[in-house]
Amino acid sequence: MSPSSAQRSRWRRYWDRHSRTYDRQMGFMDRWLFGDTRSWVCGQATGEVLEVAIGTGLNLPHYPAGSTLTGIELSPAMLRIAHGRADELGRTVDLRVGDAEALQFPDASFDTVVCTFSLCAIPDHERSLAEMIRVLRPGGRLLLADHVASSNPVIRAGQRLLEMGSVPIGGEHFLRRPLDHVRAAGLDIEHHDRFALGIVERLTARKPTTGSDLA
Ligand SMILES: C[S@@+](CC[C@H](N)C(=O)[O-])C[C@H]1O[C@@H](n2cnc3c(N)ncnc32)[C@H](O)[C@@H]1O
Repeated sequence: MSPSSAQRSRWRRYWDRHSRTYDRQMGFMDRWLFGDTRSWVCGQATGEVLEVAIGTGLNLPHYPAGSTLTGIELSPAMLRIAHGRADELGRTVDLRVGDAEALQFPDASFDTVVCTFSLCAIPDHERSLAEMIRVLRPGGRLLLADHVASSNPVIRAGQRLLEMGSVPIGGEHFLRRPLDHVRAAGLDIEHHDRFALGIVERLTARKPTTGSDLA
């Protein structure tokens, strides 16, 4: 087994184990830290939508009725819960086990790509972002939300300490900032905001309509 597939299996088992308690833990974070972020992000999704690392499908209630949804996720146990949620909501969603670092879709397949609170957990988040941009149609939108490196240096020092434990134990990063990579890839940042001492950041970015505009 290659080191990367061994690592993927390890994180898959980690998220499988945490699937039963995930909604309760994330519910707390949604109420106290992330606020209206799920509806802010998903409310802007249009057309054919891909959600990367969809987890247990906590975003599903927030998508507009007219959108066509596909979701990929590393952990089969998380995905089973997402299936149950889609059924309860009466929503048709194409849910598949998949790897955010190697998306199983052709170039330019989706109008919108969504990823919430997962770029902190995906091992190679830059590769995953490149994949999200690849599968976006020219003129399509990337919608992201995550916890990021705080704008406050004292909090950032705390996040650095936290990462010393969280990365080896759960693959959880606190010092990333996807916005920088999205900008460097040549997408137009249409909106972004940051709150909770700069720990939470969300953005919408548009892929240029000509491929040559991309870095
Ligand atoms: C913190 S959870 C976020 C779930 C969901 N996006 C949400 O907003 O509640 C992180 C998710 O990323 C998934 N994940 C981690 N690495 C992945 C990868 N390489 N490919 C696909 N999913 C991955 C985990 O299995 C987990 O479900």
